Amino acid sequence: MLSALIRFAFIVCLAFIAAYVCLIHWGALVAITAGIAILAIPLVYSYINLARLLKYAQDDKVESIPLPSGYWEVVYFRLQRLVRSLKLQIRSIEQQHNRFIEAFQASPNGILMLDGQDHIEWCNAIAERFFGLHFKRDVMQRINFLIRRPEFIQYLTRRQFEEPLLLERMGPDSNLSLMLQAFPFGDKRHLLLVQDVTDLQKADAMRRDFVANVSHEMRTPITVLMGFLETMQSLDLDKAQQHQYFDMMMSQSQRMKSLVEDLLTLANLEANTLPAPLQVINVDTLMALLKNDAQALSQNKHTFEFKSSTPLNLMGEEREILSAFGNLVSNAIRYTPDAGYVTAHWQVNDQGQGEFSVMDSGPGIASEHLSRLTERFYRIDRSRSRDTGGTGLGLAIVKHIANRHQAQLIIESVPGKGSTFTLRFPKERLTALTT
Ligand SMILES: Nc1ncnc2c1ncn2[C@@H]1O[C@H](COP(=O)(O)OP(=O)(O)OP(=O)(O)O)[C@@H](O)[C@H]1O
Ligand SMILES: [Mg+2]
Repeated sequence: MLSALIRFAFIVCLAFIAAYVCLIHWGALVAITAGIAILAIPLVYSYINLARLLKYAQDDKVESIPLPSGYWEVVYFRLQRLVRSLKLQIRSIEQQHNRFIEAFQASPNGILMLDGQDHIEWCNAIAERFFGLHFKRDVMQRINFLIRRPEFIQYLTRRQFEEPLLLERMGPDSNLSLMLQAFPFGDKRHLLLVQDVTDLQKADAMRRDFVANVSHEMRTPITVLMGFLETMQSLDLDKAQQHQYFDMMMSQSQRMKSLVEDLLTLANLEANTLPAPLQVINVDTLMALLKNDAQALSQNKHTFEFKSSTPLNLMGEEREILSAFGNLVSNAIRYTPDAGYVTAHWQVNDQGQGEFSVMDSGPGIASEHLSRLTERFYRIDRSRSRDTGGTGLGLAIVKHIANRHQAQLIIESVPGKGSTFTLRFPKERLTALTT
């Protein structure tokens, strides 16, 4: 401020001296003109610098104005420093904002920000997918105009957001179950968090089905057993009849025992997610065991062929492999009518993978059942399967054992001709070693 005053005083003095000198030599008119001209110098200087500032400001280039000398240098310098620091602040706020947006976008949950009137202020891509929204198109639209489910509209109107809301059959293919909850924040705003609970809902449904199936499977033999016991209590039976009843009770107990055993096997397999160990399993010995069991089960009613066309052995958990191979062989026998053929074959295919396949000349399986056979308790013909003592857990066990051995279970079947069940093991599980 002081330097500005000194400058101003200097110009005034200069103008006064010049006017005085001119007055002495050339008269009053020249003196006034010279005085005004000298006083106008700082005005012109200021005007030029203002005009430059305006031009750079219009192009948003205030930071790059070349600094003039004199008083305006300070003005430019201060302005440039202010603009630079403001721009830095804006950039850092923008970066922070972008990071928030990126974090919200990375969230596996749908996120919507609603203003006080439930207009969508922002939503992430997951929320767009869940509700078929398009942020650019739907921004500032009222959410209840876009999500028309009555339960959702009711949830919004009631404004009691302590509990979440479950919306089923949502999404483009109506296959999503969504759990959403609104959380108040800021000035009457709400954050709507949406979670995909489809898998949880499915697991819950599966658990309910499972309990229902187990209870159903147990109820039949228990009811039959109780019936027999009541009969034996109330009737005076002779020895032969008693034996007959005991046999029938034994078979029902056996049925319950095998169901419980299968359930335990499944539970153990499900709990054990590690890959099966690499113990060498002698496939020839295994085939001999399987053949013995098969003949006992069939009681000479079927024709068998058990062949091995490779000297290679398999590496895995012997007990599990025996159970998986045995399940496939016993299915082939149980579902193939008397006088049918059953062939079990161990070989290495063209890709070097080990294959154990069981082929039968049974009734075959219609294609709509194929993909569901490995579901727990899935049976094509419940009554027929129950007649043969089946619980519908065998192939589920086989599938788990296959997974633990990185193997694939391939089911091919031609209705009326027969079926082939193949377990395909990766090369890494084959070995020339023997036990
Ligand atoms: N070789 C086969 N031929 C025709 N149908 C088969 C064959 N193997 C399995 N199935 C069908 O697949 C269903 C499921 O088989 P799975 O082995 O899982 O159960 P199960 O044999 O009924 O009972 P479990 O094996 O637990 O005693 C069977 O009920 C049967 O209908
Ligand atoms: Mg079975």
